[in-house]
Amino acid sequence: QWTMGDYCKSAIAQVRNQVGGGRVLLALSGGVDSSVAAALLAEAVGRQLTCVFVDHGLMRKDEGDEVEAAFSKWDLNFVRVDAEERFLSRLSGVTEPERKRKIIGEEFIRVFEEEAKKIGAVEFLAQGTIYPDVIESGLGASATIKSHHNVGGLPDYVDFKEIVEPLRMLFKDEVRQLGRELGLPEYLVSRQPFPGPGLSVRVIGEITREKLDILREADFIFRDELHKAGADASLSQYFAVLTSMRSVGVMGDGRTYDYTLALRAVNTSDFMTADWARIPYDVLDRVSVRIVNEVRSINRIVYDITSKPPATIEWE
Ligand code: XMP
Repeated sequence: QWTMGDYCKSAIAQVRNQVGGGRVLLALSGGVDSSVAAALLAEAVGRQLTCVFVDHGLMRKDEGDEVEAAFSKWDLNFVRVDAEERFLSRLSGVTEPERKRKIIGEEFIRVFEEEAKKIGAVEFLAQGTIYPDVIESGLGASATIKSHHNVGGLPDYVDFKEIVEPLRMLFKDEVRQLGRELGLPEYLVSRQPFPGPGLSVRVIGEITREKLDILREADFIFRDELHKAGADASLSQYFAVLTSMRSVGVMGDGRTYDYTLALRAVNTSDFMTADWARIPYDVLDRVSVRIVNEVRSINRIVYDITSKPPATIEWE
């Protein structure tokens, strides 16, 4: 009987065999794949591994700290780069979605490259490529509606001799299982997909630190209530979007003129098409009441009832 425990042991042995005494560099995004790859490498080669975690300031509430905490149990070189200022200043005044993606992709490479230079020459670059990525790139999937900057070829901006891809043979659910086997916390292992450009494509139009903070709070409440209602496990993806629209409301005896927040939740098997999720009204009600009460600058909540196509899952 084959188990994930057996697979884990043989994958560790395989990595040790490939890497020997060499140094390994890995870009950790906090997503499932790069996290599991990092955990496996940490287990296999410990301090020969350096993980570079670029914190672009576009992550969800507490996410950066959660990722860092998850890796504290291993003795590895963990570099967290606080690059919020850099990213926000480059994004200042930018409203067009694809430009946001391009800027973030470029800035990410720049930050990572700078860190790689500080570390010096490494023999190996590790990546969390999984089996579906291998198939997809093999087929040359080119017609993308949105540029997904984390799916691409080999980076040419770091000096290394060989690539290490310990998850190449695994499907997503197997990657999650391996993560559990390695002792990664459930909040990382069962994490929903999160776009590389992060919250920048969930703040419609111009991005400011203030808008990001508003969105982070509202998004946290949405996720928290879905979790408490036991509704999160059955959803493929769910998040809040801060629109650029303001509308009139009333609070106490005063008139307000604040942002409209949109809630989005979908079910899908492949993310190419998706159905909007039928979240119970009473759950939506609790979310709405909490957000308008607890988050400043939001006075109206709407629920997105479009499927993909014709809409996309993200709003930008
Ligand atoms: P859309 O909005 O195109 O999203 O229906 C499909 C899936 O892709 C994710 N997504 C991205 N992921 N970089 C990423 O890494 C991106 O720029 C990006 N845009 C969308 C989206 O969250 C959904 O899971």
